Amino acid sequence: MIDFGDFYQRIAKGQLSHWLETLPAQLAAWQKESLHGQFKQWFNAVDYLPHVTPERLDLLHSVTAEAAPNALSEGQIQGITTHLRTLMPWRKGPFHLYGIHIDTEWRSDWKWQRVAPHLSSLVGRTVLDVGCGSGYHLWRMVGAGAQLAVGIDPTQLFLCQFEAVRKLIGGDQRAHLLPLGIEQLPALGAFDTVFSMGVLYHRRSPLDHLYQLKNQLVSGGELVLETLVVPGDAQTVLLPGDRYAQMKNVYFIPSTDALANWLEKCGFIDVRVVDVCPTTTEEQRKTEWMINESLADFLDPRDATKTREGYPAPVRAVLIAKKP
Ligand SMILES: C[S@@+](CC[C@H](N)C(=O)[O-])C[C@H]1O[C@@H](n2cnc3c(N)ncnc32)[C@H](O)[C@@H]1O
Repeated sequence: MIDFGDFYQRIAKGQLSHWLETLPAQLAAWQKESLHGQFKQWFNAVDYLPHVTPERLDLLHSVTAEAAPNALSEGQIQGITTHLRTLMPWRKGPFHLYGIHIDTEWRSDWKWQRVAPHLSSLVGRTVLDVGCGSGYHLWRMVGAGAQLAVGIDPTQLFLCQFEAVRKLIGGDQRAHLLPLGIEQLPALGAFDTVFSMGVLYHRRSPLDHLYQLKNQLVSGGELVLETLVVPGDAQTVLLPGDRYAQMKNVYFIPSTDALANWLEKCGFIDVRVVDVCPTTTEEQRKTEWMINESLADFLDPRDATKTREGYPAPVRAVLIAKKP
């Protein structure tokens, strides 16, 4: 089963060491009691993948690994492709691994391009990515200089995708993904930067989510919040009915001004809206690696400015704030 020992060793010295008082027991209980029915099948696919050490690894501009000429045979590449396809649907990426292009549903690299220019330098930082999906952005945080990038995400398929990528890029230990929800974290107060991207609108209690994020930061640390927004003034918040863009688990979608107010109300300072951008059907779409419905199916076929339910089509904002 999954061995988190490398992570425990990694944090044994330094600002996260007190996490070791609770984390090993929590993850042991997770392995015993909470595994998904398909977990074994997914994890077998990871197990079957070879350990590959890339000749060239780029995490700064993309997630791309290249091998020395003839290091991997045609047959090995085909085998790797088959195991990676067992881990579909691939939502967050893309990954370019030895000529295999995992063309994910999302161009997560576009989100990173919108976020990265506004961050305090990640060089040497310890960072947390809440709801990190496959861990695509964790690798980009490492590429931007983070000394340790920790992701949490309760979706177990994403943990397997992350471990698959890790195995194929030389077992890099600078990023780690833990199968936990934000509500399962103690108040660590130990991360220099905390990212919450694409998570707030899934939380039933958004202000509690902001407090939980704040509790993970060191004093003076930076929060990077990316979420859906609607047009409107500081009093505008959309609480959709049964579904939003076909998603059942969408709760509060504020305007950018309302969101900035929420952050200030939760005690953040220096709140800045650094990007607002509509999500296009080029950024989120069906691919060979994610064959289910995608954004084009969730919009009104007669008016792409609206969701099928008649709400404003998805627009996402990035806000940056500081913990005093
Ligand atoms: C829309 S995706 C965003 C993925 C990625 N952060 C991005 O921006 O592309 C939301 C993610 O939050 C995860 N998630 C759901 N509940 C969560 C929770 N309680 N705590 C942390 N993450 C959660 C989901 O598994 C999913 O991967």
